[in-house]
Amino acid sequence: MMRRFFAPLLAAGLLAGAAAHAEDTLSPLKFQSEGAFGSIDLAAAQRGFAVYQGVCASCHGMGALHYRDLQALGFTAEQVAGIAASVKLADGSAATPDSHFKEPAPVNMGGATPPDLSSIVAQRPGGTRYIYNFLTGFGPAPAGITLLPGHNYNAAFPGGQVSMPDVLRDNAVTYADGTKATKAQEAADVAEFLTWASDPNLSARHAVGLRAVIFFAFLTIVAVLTKRRIWRQEG
Ligand code: HEC
Repeated sequence: MMRRFFAPLLAAGLLAGAAAHAEDTLSPLKFQSEGAFGSIDLAAAQRGFAVYQGVCASCHGMGALHYRDLQALGFTAEQVAGIAASVKLADGSAATPDSHFKEPAPVNMGGATPPDLSSIVAQRPGGTRYIYNFLTGFGPAPAGITLLPGHNYNAAFPGGQVSMPDVLRDNAVTYADGTKATKAQEAADVAEFLTWASDPNLSARHAVGLRAVIFFAFLTIVAVLTKRRIWRQEG
């Protein structure tokens, strides 16, 4: 009886799980890295690096990273060597896997300088989601808001005015894995990449946490069973 009830339920659950996996991850917006047991979506983070390198790196440095660190995202040593070799450092030489990410030439836009993005996700309330909202939050200023010179309206930025321009657009990069590079996809992917950069050990830490929860749940069950056995009423 129980088995007849549970087997279809299990099958339905597995099917729903598979369907959920295939669905568009942007509607509703989901980040694999979110939650107590989240892990970095390596494919998204690799695409996010392409967005950083192609769009953001001209203004924002990520001084805490070396090119070799990208191997943690699943890039091979050869791919990393290729990425580094394509970067021309300030002295004219090519970067190597052991080089720090290239520092861009100083930028000053309306008195503001672009912050280093190495740990921006940890530094901003809302983390990953804030970065996504910020990158997709540009638009015309609502009536009643007068923009300061050199500023753009951004609904997510505190105060609504930011000196960074709206830099993402559809097909700003071409993804190596064939994913359609919509503006929203680029924003989500670079947010996942910056999440990894802020916390490279997130996946490992959460995996240990999950194992600890399972272990203590098991221990609790054993303790309850043992207690029942010891205190069982004889008779
Ligand atoms: C043309 C230069 C330029 C480019 C390209 C650029 N930014 Fe910026 N960015 C800036 C400037 C300038 C600021 C500082 C804005 C301010 O404080 O008013 C900034 C600020 C930021 C902030 C901080 C916002 C906050 O809450 O303080 C984030 C996050 C950010 N940029 C992410 C990115 C990402 C991701 C990309 C690539 C998709 C990118 N930027 C591309 C110039 C740029």
